[in-house]
Amino acid sequence: MSMTFEALCTSLESKPPVRLQVQDLSVTYSTSKGPVRAVSQINFDVEPGTNFGLVGESGCGKSTVVKSLMRLLPDSAKVGGKVLLDGKDVLAMDRKALAAVRWTQIALVTQSAMNSLDPVFTVGDQIVESIRAHVDVSHAVAWARAEQMFAMVGLPAERLREYPHQFSGGMRQRAVIAMAFSLNAGLLLADEPTTALDPIMQDQIMSRIRDIQQRLHRSMVLVTHDIAVVSETCETVAIMYAGRIVEMGPTRDVLNKAYHPYTMGLQNAFPRIRAKGESKPPLISISGGLPDLLHPPKGCRFEPRCPFSTERCRAEDPELRPVGTVMAACHHIDRAEEFRRAALKAETWRVEEDVQ
Ligand SMILES: Nc1ncnc2c1ncn2[C@@H]1O[C@H](COP(=O)(O)OP(=O)(O)O)[C@@H](O)[C@H]1O
Ligand code: SF4
Ligand SMILES: [Mg+2]
Repeated sequence: MSMTFEALCTSLESKPPVRLQVQDLSVTYSTSKGPVRAVSQINFDVEPGTNFGLVGESGCGKSTVVKSLMRLLPDSAKVGGKVLLDGKDVLAMDRKALAAVRWTQIALVTQSAMNSLDPVFTVGDQIVESIRAHVDVSHAVAWARAEQMFAMVGLPAERLREYPHQFSGGMRQRAVIAMAFSLNAGLLLADEPTTALDPIMQDQIMSRIRDIQQRLHRSMVLVTHDIAVVSETCETVAIMYAGRIVEMGPTRDVLNKAYHPYTMGLQNAFPRIRAKGESKPPLISISGGLPDLLHPPKGCRFEPRCPFSTERCRAEDPELRPVGTVMAACHHIDRAEEFRRAALKAETWRVEEDVQ
C-alpha cells in the first residue's frame, strides 16, 4: 500500500543530512586541442547540516566540480578521485545505486531553470513525476507535497497547473528549487541558483534557500562568484582558481584574514562585506584572466596576475597547507599581513601599460 501524505512528510523530514567528502578530485576534458585540466586534485568536506561555499570567477571549474558530484559530466571528461556521500563513493556506483541517490540524497539546482523544466508538461505534473519516481505514493499525495513545496518557495498552489512558459524567470527558478527540495535530499547542490535573476529576486530566493536549509537541517554546496552571498550563507568557504582550491576555511576567517592574494583581491572587489567603522577601501578589480588550462603555468597559477609574485612563484607550484584556522596555497603566506594592507590599495592591482 502506498504512503499517506503525513507518512511521506514524516519519512522525508526524518532523513538525516548527508556528509560529503571530496578526495583528490580531478577532471580532465579531452578536446580537439588537447586535454583541459579543469579540476586538479581538490579536497574538501561538507559537514552534515552545514553550507559550503565554492567561489571563484567564471571558468575556474566550479560547475565541473558540481557536475562530477552528481556524475553529470559528458563522456569526454575523465574523472579521478573520490566523492563520498556518507562514506559511499558516487564515482564508483553502478547505474542503479546512482539512480537511488540522485534527488533523494543529492539534489541539484542550476542557474538555468529553463533546462530543468520540460515545456510540454505542467510544472505540477513534473514535480509529481519526480516524487513518484522515487517514492511509492499516489498522484494525490505527491500533488499535496508539490503544493507544500510551492508554499515554501512562496508560489501559489494554483500555479502548479500552469506550464513553464507561463512563469516569469524568478518563478521558474523558485519552481526548480521547490522540485529540488521535494524529496528533501540530504545534500543540495546549488550552482549559481540566482545568477540569471535581478538583484531583488536574487536576495529573495537566497533567503528562501537559507531558511529551508536551516529549518530542515540540510547540507549544501553553494556555487557563486559573489563572496557577499557566501558570507551570509556558508559556514565554510573554498576559493577556487584555475581548477584548484587556493584558500579554504571558516568563512569568517577566510574573509577577515585572507592568506591568498587572490582571496584578498576578490574580497576588495565586494566592499559591502567590510567591517563597520573600517574606512571604505577603493573598489579594485583583478586585471587579466584565468590561465589557459591547455597550457597551465608551471608555477603558481595566479602568478601572471599576482601583484606580489616572486621568482619562486614562477618556478614552483604552491601546495594548499594549513595556516591558522584556514588552508592556503601561496609561497608567501608569512607576508600575508603586508599583502593584506597593500591589497586594499587600487594601485597595487593596476597593471603597467604595455610599452609600445
Ligand atoms: N564539456 C567541456 N569540454 C571542454 N572543456 C570544458 C567543458 N566544460 C567546461 N570546460 C572547461 O573547463 C573549465 C571550467 O569550466 P566550468 O566548470 O564551467 O567553470 P565555472 O563553473 O567555474 O565557470 C573552463 O576552462 C571550461 O572552458
Ligand atoms: S604563490 Fe606567489 S604568485 Fe602565487 S599567490 Fe602567492 S605570492 Fe602570488
Ligand atoms: Mg559554472
